Amino acid sequence: SAAEKGGYDYFMLKEIAEQPKAVADTLLGRVDGSGSLTLDEVRIPQSVLREADKVVIVACGTAFHAGLIAKYAIEHWTRIPCEVELASEFRYRDPILDQRTLVIAISQSGETMDTLMALRHAREQGARVLAICNTNGSTIPRESDAVLYTHAGPEVAVASTKAFLTQLVACYLVALYLGQVRGTKWGDEIRAVVRDLAQISGQVERVLETMEPVRELARSLAGKNTVLFLGRHVGYPVALEGALKLKELAYMHAEGFAAGELKHGPIALIEKDLPVVVVVPSPRGRSVLHDKIVSNIQEIRARGARTIVIAEEGDEAVVPYADHLVRIPATPTLLQPMVAAVPLQVFACELATARGNEVDQPRNLAKSVTVE
Ligand code: G6P
Repeated sequence: SAAEKGGYDYFMLKEIAEQPKAVADTLLGRVDGSGSLTLDEVRIPQSVLREADKVVIVACGTAFHAGLIAKYAIEHWTRIPCEVELASEFRYRDPILDQRTLVIAISQSGETMDTLMALRHAREQGARVLAICNTNGSTIPRESDAVLYTHAGPEVAVASTKAFLTQLVACYLVALYLGQVRGTKWGDEIRAVVRDLAQISGQVERVLETMEPVRELARSLAGKNTVLFLGRHVGYPVALEGALKLKELAYMHAEGFAAGELKHGPIALIEKDLPVVVVVPSPRGRSVLHDKIVSNIQEIRARGARTIVIAEEGDEAVVPYADHLVRIPATPTLLQPMVAAVPLQVFACELATARGNEVDQPRNLAKSVTVE
């Protein structure tokens, strides 16, 4: 009903708008006054966390993309090797798991059968499983050794939005916690990241206030058949997620690529007026990546692509090559996905509406897939 949708036309719009609160709620109560993480829910003995020699993330769909992003944070902050695998592929290749493997199963619903089967397999091999889940008391947390809940509130629209952002927050908290327990990350560093995480809610709010040009652009592309997405580093999984949203909602051919792979194949797809969304890393910090992606934008534009550039405020280098420029607030590199994903959600939602599609219930899809 209209009341359930809180005045929005679709649950998806409501859930996109709820993201600032969802992100803030997921941080709430998980950091103490001194800035240390207090993840009491993670009931896995600290000795086990100290001895873990590998992290394996299993998930499906949007949760898988959250896992791909989390890998960068986990490896950077903890120096523990981290693999990310589609839950549906995981147990069929006889993965190497033992008591020193920490498996993280990410699931909004907690009922996805592929993810459940993957975690059962992991536990049979002696691995510890930590669930990151949005649904209290669902099957995946019940069958895991511990759970860290995302506090996004109920997500109704089939295409995941607020759950995705909170999965990132939860994964980052786990990464910092592992660093804290293992001593690879110290108090001040943790406090600094927590401070940056605490800014994200307000930054998402600001992004949401500036989305009208993105909606307008989406409407103008309603007649297109294909949209490509490019990104690098944590922007690569953001590109994959942007493409997934467009497939799910607009039923368009949409593909995400690592920008560095462009020259190894995808550039052959570029033709006149093809819309290409590029997620640009911050020019501060990893500026090498930034410069490389700017030359990618030049290359595709020279071949006729219509470039839709998502870049942080103050990044002037992209301006000459952007047919459409979407500004996002400056964040540390690892945190950029939490703001960069938002325009892609709005873009897909508006394109779906313009094409006359059912936004909350896309054809052939289910909110939670309880068969393998
Ligand atoms: C389905 C949904 C997706 C979701 C995926 C994983 O395919 O349509 O939006 O990302 O399942 O769901 P989960 O509940 O495990 O996060």
